[in-house]
Amino acid sequence: MSEVLLQLKGLSVSYGPVEAVHQVDLEVRSGEIVTVIGPNGAGKTTLLSAAMGLLPSRGEIHLEGRRIARPGVEVMVAHGVGLVPEKRELFGEMSVEDNLLLGGFSRWRRGLRDQVQRMDEVFAIFPRLKERRAQMSSTLSGGERQMLAIGRALMARPRLLLLDEPSLGLAPLIVREVLQVVAGLRDLGVSVLLVEQNARAALKVADRAYVLEMGAVALSGSAKALLNDRRIIDTYLGMGHSAQAAAA
Ligand SMILES: Nc1ncnc2c1ncn2[C@@H]1O[C@H](COP(=O)(O)OP(=O)(O)OP(=O)(O)O)[C@@H](O)[C@H]1O
Ligand SMILES: [Mg+2]
Repeated sequence: MSEVLLQLKGLSVSYGPVEAVHQVDLEVRSGEIVTVIGPNGAGKTTLLSAAMGLLPSRGEIHLEGRRIARPGVEVMVAHGVGLVPEKRELFGEMSVEDNLLLGGFSRWRRGLRDQVQRMDEVFAIFPRLKERRAQMSSTLSGGERQMLAIGRALMARPRLLLLDEPSLGLAPLIVREVLQVVAGLRDLGVSVLLVEQNARAALKVADRAYVLEMGAVALSGSAKALLNDRRIIDTYLGMGHSAQAAAA
């Protein structure tokens, strides 16, 4: 069995008196693409933010087998975890290139001066960003912005990338393109925890999946098994799936 990169044990997160994530157990192994699917408000973003140390949580967060006593963004980044947030948080008034360089800042601060090489790697993954390297990022299309957000996170050379709904607001063709890149990250040695509302697209690229409902894990298993699970088909995959199955 490959090494466990990230393990959440009984993770709970509250906003004031309201618990948004309840006792979640989850793990991502090295080389895995793991997805968390679930409806609006299920707690996906909350879970990801807590795993990144952006929100206080109860329970345990382990990275590479060691418990992180005080989860915080800096600690997570230092342990090779990267986040592409739901709101992307690009610097709109800055060029594509400068946004990427900022993504490499944590390495630069550690004395690692390989930003140009990292940027070439990102451009190899997203050639479209290379063509637009001087363009102001506020003028990029939705798909290009998503690529830039992922590219910026890759500049830090994470071992584990947390991705919050990369398909949000994108046309189906672009969703496929972006998720294909996500699938390809594995070959670059990057494991992925992918939060998605687009259950079908996510299950197609993932190895394993967790279904989050009202803050708790309702179901988990191999992505392939969940794609064929009656409950998942009825609740998350809808008509499109039956039509596809009929056509096949
Ligand atoms: N800052 C906050 N303060 C109070 N409640 C919050 C806050 N952020 C989220 N919540 C609540 O926590 C619950 C989970 O929200 P969360 O954003 O994690 O869901 P989600 O699964 O990411 O949804 P979506 O698919 O719409 O992005 C929701 O009921 C939401 O209203
Ligand atoms: Mg969300």
